[in-house]
Amino acid sequence: MNRKVQNIVWHESSITKQERRGLNKHHSFILWFTGLSASGKSSVANALARALHEQGKQAFVLDGDNIRHGLNKDLGFNEQNRKENIRRIGEVSKLLVESGQIVLTAFISPYREDRELVRALVSKDEFIEIYVKCSIEECERRDPKGLYKKARNQEIPHFTGISAPYEEPLNPEIVLDTEVLSIDECVSTLINALTKKGFI
Ligand code: ADX
Repeated sequence: MNRKVQNIVWHESSITKQERRGLNKHHSFILWFTGLSASGKSSVANALARALHEQGKQAFVLDGDNIRHGLNKDLGFNEQNRKENIRRIGEVSKLLVESGQIVLTAFISPYREDRELVRALVSKDEFIEIYVKCSIEECERRDPKGLYKKARNQEIPHFTGISAPYEEPLNPEIVLDTEVLSIDECVSTLINALTKKGFI
């Protein structure tokens, strides 16, 4: 056992996950959006969260750029730091699933292994991987934050898709091609998939 967790005893919660789900009247789970910067992860996740909220569901977005302003502001973008970024978000997401939330995460999460570690943290029916697919050429054309331009000028090291890898999901539950689908179409696709599964 890791020495740091010796002498620590798990304390059971007085309210179970099932009870919280019962109160909310829906399943709780993680929608893990992965894809290049500017692929549309945050836009789709936020639009879906709004649609779920309007249907009376508990939904919460964890977004890379935002989390890196607070909880993960000590982390940069080398491989080690990205792994730690995803590990922490996986743990936070698991807690939010315990609390009865539909958790929507929008992180590049470029490494397959890290995404699979998060998948393994929760039950099989609590993790849905969504590949937000968009070519590097189109992301670079969009470049809403001007970061691709900076990365090409070598002003940003380890930039995903330019000077750092992105490992495409091999078997994602859902693929959203944002070069073809509008945000509203992505939201409808997701709502339909979740309804079909009986999750919402
Ligand atoms: S991850 O790779 O660790 O999952 P995360 O999603 O948290 O990344 O953060 C990505 C966001 O940080 C990008 O959308 C972009 O705005 C910004 N960013 C800053 N530097 C980099 C970089 N080197 N590579 C990718 N994104 C970066």
